[in-house]
Amino acid sequence: MQESLLKTCAREFHTPLYVYDFDAISIQLEKFKNAFKARKSLICYALKANPNLSVINHLASLGCGADCVSIGEVRRAIAGGVPKYKIIYSGVGKRDDEIESALKLGILFLNVESEAELLRIESIAQSLESRARISIRVNPNIDAKTHPYISTGLHENKFGVDIELAKRLYIYAKKSPFLEPVGIHFHIGSQLTTLEPLIQSAKIIADLAHSLLALKIDLKFFDIGGGIGICYTDEQEIDLYEYAQGILEAIKGLDVTIICEPGRFLVGSAGVLLSKVLYEKHNGSKRFVIVDAAMNDLMRPALYNAVHNVRIIESCNTTTLESRADIVGAICESSDFLAKDVVVPALASGDLLAFENAGAYGASMAHTYNTRSRPAEVGIQKGKYFLLKERESFEEMTANELRLLHKRLEQ
Ligand SMILES: Cc1ncc(COP(=O)(O)O)c(C=O)c1O
Repeated sequence: MQESLLKTCAREFHTPLYVYDFDAISIQLEKFKNAFKARKSLICYALKANPNLSVINHLASLGCGADCVSIGEVRRAIAGGVPKYKIIYSGVGKRDDEIESALKLGILFLNVESEAELLRIESIAQSLESRARISIRVNPNIDAKTHPYISTGLHENKFGVDIELAKRLYIYAKKSPFLEPVGIHFHIGSQLTTLEPLIQSAKIIADLAHSLLALKIDLKFFDIGGGIGICYTDEQEIDLYEYAQGILEAIKGLDVTIICEPGRFLVGSAGVLLSKVLYEKHNGSKRFVIVDAAMNDLMRPALYNAVHNVRIIESCNTTTLESRADIVGAICESSDFLAKDVVVPALASGDLLAFENAGAYGASMAHTYNTRSRPAEVGIQKGKYFLLKERESFEEMTANELRLLHKRLEQ
């Protein structure tokens, strides 16, 4: 992203500030589309990566569907312009009201993650006198070789059901007048940089789909989840063409539409978090640069030890001397760091930094710990910038509690 535009955005909207490059998002989507163009496919953007309505709307305008994990996300997808027939709904803990709303909305299908959930969906569909379109998330017990917190394809992870149970559930669903099994699903983890586990999983799930076909359970959708990683520092990115070829080979003989659920790949590298330096300090020999963003704005370093490269966008420093420092926020936790042990020149109050590759799981994980506002968000497209979300105000943060406090005090 052009530094001059970033400086302008920081000046106009202040920091901390997320900036997303919509043209870069389009390019990432095009890469995905091209890889799968030989086959009927639907790209369902995983909203959890970045649920800003303008981001959703941008991807929807380019043909994307949505992969959602709460009824809130389903509503966001619809508000962002995604047609209901392109929305799928996954997640291990769907509440009754969420299931009911999803069925009433008539989305494409629900990804079922347990036997108990399948029975709940059946009984809710019965009470609505409808038939629920479902897909079962199968846990292939494959190690995705990623950070354990974002690995989801092993039996020790809470996601999906094992092959044998999946088969029983499909047979049950096929016989139920209130269930319509239309798809099969797996998602083994996020930030994946090795192809092998994905292809291995696809083969296992395709074998299951073949054996279901033999039982006259003819599924229309083969949902390969998301998880394709991006380069934060020096990771090797998966070749999308090889990925698509591997999937196509695995599903040979199945007449299915492929559904992909990329999140990070589409938006991760298209975003930065802008932050200004507040102070520098030394505790003994340890150097800290304290900035106005913190773990409430960007959780990934605190949560996964994730690394976001730091780019100095504007600095009044004229020396070239550099030394190691931790770049930290103002939150009262030692896990509140945005970068650890990075080599940076002397920085002064007001210098502008960009934490790169922050478009995914950045703003979406932001929170208000220490009563800090969630940051504003800006989009850039064809050289123009526009505000997507205002910084949350103190009044917005506290309105709900204040109303109840005043009500109680008045009694
Ligand atoms: C079911 C499901 N689909 C898609 C995704 C998106 O993953 P990613 O952002 O790594 O592409 C996730 C994220 O964990 C997920 O749980």
